[in-house]
Amino acid sequence: MRRPLIAGNWKMHLSPSEGAALATMLRQRIGMRSDVEILLCPAFVALQAVAEAIRGSEMKLGAQDVFWRDSGAFTGQIAPPMLMAVGCEYVILGHSETRGRFGVADPDMDARLLAYFSETEATLNRKLRAVLPHGLKPILCVGETLAEREAGQTEQVIRTQIEGALDGLASDELYELVIAYEPVWAIGTGQVCDADEANRVCGFIRQTLRDRYDAELAEFVRVLYGGSVKPSNAHALLHQPEIDGALVGGASLDAKAFEQICYCAPQR
Ligand code: PGA
Repeated sequence: MRRPLIAGNWKMHLSPSEGAALATMLRQRIGMRSDVEILLCPAFVALQAVAEAIRGSEMKLGAQDVFWRDSGAFTGQIAPPMLMAVGCEYVILGHSETRGRFGVADPDMDARLLAYFSETEATLNRKLRAVLPHGLKPILCVGETLAEREAGQTEQVIRTQIEGALDGLASDELYELVIAYEPVWAIGTGQVCDADEANRVCGFIRQTLRDRYDAELAEFVRVLYGGSVKPSNAHALLHQPEIDGALVGGASLDAKAFEQICYCAPQR
């Protein structure tokens, strides 16, 4: 049975003290739940403060990105052992915001700036190969843009993203992998993917693992849904058989909303 995972992606919000305050509040409310795995992913600078706030609880810590080398002259980057040293168990990889494929026009972002974030399948593959040997669990985000969905390319885009990121990795290396289906058009837009459709695409992701690897791995790996998850839609999404949890952005910054989403997860 796959234990549900509810992950809060705080993105570029909350200072260390603000993050510690939110983590402390969540710890008091849901910190000892073990039927659902609850994960907080603050900004790099808040990792230490949040780690201290949740120490001794059942809650887990994750980062929002990582570089693929263990050390070296890579200005501005963070290495897998550094994340392990502050207590991270998970790391988000390939979020559409780091891939640089925004679903909505952002007037503050010009084309050149977007290119700096344009992560490719090849860089994601390096990151996966870098974190897995450390036991750092990757949450690999995949998903199509609205234009790709409207062109009927959803499955093709997702298969390409999965195969590119996992290139050369063997089945027995991937048991800690989590995949998040994050349709780009649903992220931060309030436009949630219909629960049946999210379930269908999560099932397709599992089928891709079955085809490429084996049924055992496909049944083991957790597939999350992310994109405008809120207390009002979480129950329908989290009770779908192919959806093993949620990657929550905006609503994870609100203790009450995040707690309510965690309570929507089924006991499996
Ligand atoms: P959202 O973000 O919940 O604010 O749509 C989800 C995500 O980016 O993971």
